[in-house]
Amino acid sequence: MMKSTMIGIAVLGMMGWHAAALAGDAAGKAEVCIDCHELEEFKGMDAAALAAGVETGNADSKMMAKALADVSPEDLQAIVDHLAAEANK
Ligand code: HEC
Repeated sequence: MMKSTMIGIAVLGMMGWHAAALAGDAAGKAEVCIDCHELEEFKGMDAAALAAGVETGNADSKMMAKALADVSPEDLQAIVDHLAAEANK
């Protein structure tokens, strides 16, 4: 009983740490967008609008598509979540 509670707490602690590490990671990865864009450009856009905007941007701009070619869909999701939160603070 005691032991499983301790394990539960340990697992929760690790998950919290992992989420924080991921958030820091997203901020770092989002730098790729800030190379070409200003954060203010994304003001008023939520993550879904940004993700759609990335599709349009990739279609319109070879430069952008090339810069994002190595970004995985998971990373891109983390990036747009992060940028949407930052731009609309
Ligand atoms: C190599 C430069 C470059 C990088 C890197 C880049 N973009 Fe772009 N992006 C552009 C260009 C050029 C356009 C098209 C012209 C414009 O709208 O500024 C564009 C357009 C967009 C648009 C507008 C699309 C529309 O609806 O017209 C959004 C949103 C966008 N980019 C988001 C991002 C995000 C998010 C990232 C990072 C994941 C990113 N861009 C990375 C150059 C870049």
